[in-house]
Amino acid sequence: MTKINQHILTCGGTGCRASESKILAARLKEELKNFDLDQNVKVVESGCFGFCEKGPIVKLLPDNTFYTQVKPKDAKEIVEEHVLKGRKISRLLYKDPTTNETIDESKSMGFYKKQIRIATRNCGFIDPENIGEYVARNGYEALGKTVFELKPDDIINTIKASGLRGRGGGGFPTGLKWELTAKSESEKKYVVCNADEGDPGAFMDRSILEGDPHSVLEAMAICGYAIGADEGLIYIRAEYPLAIERLKIAIKQAEEVGLIGDNILGSDFSFNIKLKYGAGAFVCGEETALIHSMEGFRGEPTLKPPFPAERGYFDKPTNVNNVETLANIAAIINKGAEWYSSIGTEKSKGTKVFALAGKINNVGLIEVPMGTTLREVIFDIGGGIKDGKKFKAVQTGGPSGGCLTEEHLDTHIDFDNLLAIGSMMGSGGMIVMDEDDCMVSVAKFYLEFTVEESCGKCAPCRIGNKRLLEILEKISNGKGTRDDLFLLRNMSEVIKDSSLCGLGQTSPNPVLSTLDNFWDEFVEHVDDNKCRAGQCKSMLKYVISEDDCVGCTACFRVCPTGAITGSKKEVHIINQDLCIKCGACMDKCHFESIELIA
Ligand SMILES: Cc1cc2nc3c(=O)[nH]c(=O)nc-3n(C[C@H](O)[C@H](O)[C@H](O)COP(=O)(O)O)c2cc1C
Ligand code: SF4
Ligand code: SF4
Ligand code: FES
Repeated sequence: MTKINQHILTCGGTGCRASESKILAARLKEELKNFDLDQNVKVVESGCFGFCEKGPIVKLLPDNTFYTQVKPKDAKEIVEEHVLKGRKISRLLYKDPTTNETIDESKSMGFYKKQIRIATRNCGFIDPENIGEYVARNGYEALGKTVFELKPDDIINTIKASGLRGRGGGGFPTGLKWELTAKSESEKKYVVCNADEGDPGAFMDRSILEGDPHSVLEAMAICGYAIGADEGLIYIRAEYPLAIERLKIAIKQAEEVGLIGDNILGSDFSFNIKLKYGAGAFVCGEETALIHSMEGFRGEPTLKPPFPAERGYFDKPTNVNNVETLANIAAIINKGAEWYSSIGTEKSKGTKVFALAGKINNVGLIEVPMGTTLREVIFDIGGGIKDGKKFKAVQTGGPSGGCLTEEHLDTHIDFDNLLAIGSMMGSGGMIVMDEDDCMVSVAKFYLEFTVEESCGKCAPCRIGNKRLLEILEKISNGKGTRDDLFLLRNMSEVIKDSSLCGLGQTSPNPVLSTLDNFWDEFVEHVDDNKCRAGQCKSMLKYVISEDDCVGCTACFRVCPTGAITGSKKEVHIINQDLCIKCGACMDKCHFESIELIA
């Protein structure tokens, strides 16, 4: 038998696949064959490494070399130089943008140093399409222990003692939810995994399912055992084809070896898992809407109580948990509640996965212990703001969250701290903004999203959010007044108080937090007709410089509204009342005499 003595891990996550990582993996295999190395070196297509900004990523084991932005054409050189001759390819190594130092191992990179990986422990390490690799990293050990050594109450008590709180946004204690569902009497119960993930910019759950699907299946079976359910359903958006494919493969493989299905591992516990597809509506992530959608009805929320734990899928007790919540379960059973609760803050235990996005150097997926500060996430892990620009705000919690400022950077991230400063944890989207972002436009962006995604069932959300958006549009069109600012605040409070579900109850948060933290900017828009970030088009002015204009008439001839006046060889002038800010004059001027000023 030949011995594999080297592994080449290539990222098979959606981000890297979009940059040809699948072709790269195939080329690496071809080159290994060409050099007669294919019996000793194995190419493994893993899940996301998190460092998506610099993908495709390739990691070589056992020496841990970490290559970034690798292209299919680099395959030959990697095999010939690195694998065969043991020479690292320096142009593919990561270069720290601040120190300019070349780093060859991921553990020495600022991006990874402060991370602790529990929910994403196997992403970037194993082939998600091979159950053997999951088992080799203690996979299904917790399920075996559950079925043969533990009673349902033991499991529930362990999860309660661990302090794990739901990662889907609300932060409800997971052990308590399991206990409530366990106590609901019924012959039939369900475990539902919420993989709807609708927040703009969020891809935590997708990455976990793509990189480590068995961790979620194992946790669902453990939950089923604890609450007395024999059926699990994964509600996943159809726009996640790779995650769906890998889940299907994982379910099939787990069934084949008796880890999912009837009489698991020969015991009398049975648990089957099916996929249910969502059509990508944000509101269908709300658990009651999700259940209605799975039942074949409109994805509209209903009032709680009754909670799904009492009456859920087809009126049976149903435990709904988020993907990331579930991805923590097996690690807690294996390592114990004490280990888990030793990580994090007093009321928020463990880690949190964030999708870092926006004007940040290291866009990607990170997992940090609760209690890490926003500053550490943005500057140490995220590598600071792109292009040397100044930090302005960070948005956490997606459409339900808020925009935080410089003064909040030393906040220790946890469920309660983020709520206390006017934002929330949400499911883990984190979008960083710089000096070029206009906060009125940011509030508008989130409102546009909620207006589009509101199911329309209740008036405060359906009509109220539309009115909020109209006021924001009025402000960014230069027609806003001080009264509008007060109206925005009052209406936001009413919408929050009177909407039926979490979508409407939190949708004004981005408006309120930007009003609270960037009041001066709103005032500038309404009082001075000024957008300091230069984003609100109506507040910009095209102006012809007296010093540079040669009077060539090119702008005069191109202006569609006749806003430009001036004779040949004389300085031209723009009438601001007639200008529609199309920019045609600026494009046409060969003398760069037209400026756009905020
Ligand atoms: C509008 C809205 C959208 C939601 N979307 C999601 C989602 O995509 N994924 C998720 O896990 N939870 C989502 N939730 C929260 C769920 O209703 C539910 O609380 C969660 O799935 C419970 O799992 P957890 O306790 O593990 O967090 C959403 C809630 C609301 C109000
Ligand atoms: S708050 Fe909005 S999303 Fe929720 S039920 Fe009412 S209309 Fe639908
Ligand atoms: S921006 Fe357009 S409308 Fe305004 S002056 Fe130039 S060409 Fe005319
Ligand atoms: S998808 Fe490859 S590093 Fe994230």
